[in-house]
Amino acid sequence: MKIAFIGGGVMGEIILSAILDKGLSTPQAISVSDIKKSRRQHLQKKYGVTVTDSNRLAAGGDVVVLAVKPQDLTTVMAELNGQLKAGQLVLSIIAGARINTLCLGLNHNQVVRVMPNTPAQIGQGISVWTATAEVSQEQKEQAGSILKAMGRELYVADEKYIDMATAVSGSGPAYIFLFIESLVAAAVNIGLPADIAKELVLETILGSGNLVQKSGKEPARLRKMVTSPGGVTAEALNKLEKGGFAELVLEAVVAAYNKARRLGD
Ligand SMILES: NC(=O)c1ccc[n+]([C@@H]2O[C@H](COP(=O)([O-])OP(=O)(O)OC[C@H]3O[C@@H](n4cnc5c(N)ncnc54)[C@H](OP(=O)(O)O)[C@@H]3O)[C@@H](O)[C@H]2O)c1
Repeated sequence: MKIAFIGGGVMGEIILSAILDKGLSTPQAISVSDIKKSRRQHLQKKYGVTVTDSNRLAAGGDVVVLAVKPQDLTTVMAELNGQLKAGQLVLSIIAGARINTLCLGLNHNQVVRVMPNTPAQIGQGISVWTATAEVSQEQKEQAGSILKAMGRELYVADEKYIDMATAVSGSGPAYIFLFIESLVAAAVNIGLPADIAKELVLETILGSGNLVQKSGKEPARLRKMVTSPGGVTAEALNKLEKGGFAELVLEAVVAAYNKARRLGD
């Protein structure tokens, strides 16, 4: 598969690395354009791919991955408008960029819009995606194989779910990292050595997530199973409840969702 990357930053590299790792393409069949020289040098040296500072020159693959920041999209679309041929699949990971905007800006209608997340760099990402009606079955399979290289993928027919996924799974790793930081800091505060605190927190988070997934039980039920009335866990949960933990999480996700939607305006 011939693949072009427009933007070779953090996410672009994660996708590129997963594609090569899973043998979906070869360094010779991949070109990356990035305005930053240091990124071009890094990607060329580490992966042996072709690099350029010209988005037009790069954009010749079967799949053209758009991986620039939302604020750079207008420039990129102006450069690529009219350059893409029928049969080329555009795969955009740009937060907030609507399919309609991409199709109009690029003058191209075979577009897949994806929201990946950063655990993709260890093959444990979750990517939520949708496609225009003009995307063929073969192109959907191409897109699916790229996303599977980074972990799990979930196709949604309605684009509205992409902005929602952005606020949940796209930004979600940062919420979990903050929770990990807070729990480790609390553990250290009550006297645990930092290395022990970190190991306990990480194993607890991984084990709890896996337990929800593997047991098939609702998280609320699992929570009640570890919470004896008047016991130790109840003390902590009462504090979190009184502090408005659930409401705060709701407010945070709504704020992220609104921001993701505004990016598309
Ligand atoms: N990071 C995440 O967790 C995540 C998750 C899901 C989706 N996304 C989406 O992924 C996209 C990329 O994010 P990122 O974190 O990879 O950003 P990033 O690291 O800033 O990568 C973007 C790269 O594109 C370059 N660039 C800027 N303007 C360009 C242009 N006109 N032509 C070619 N290259 C250009 C940037 O150079 P400069 O630095 O010089 O501008 C940078 O090297 C974003 O739209 C974001 O919404 C990110």
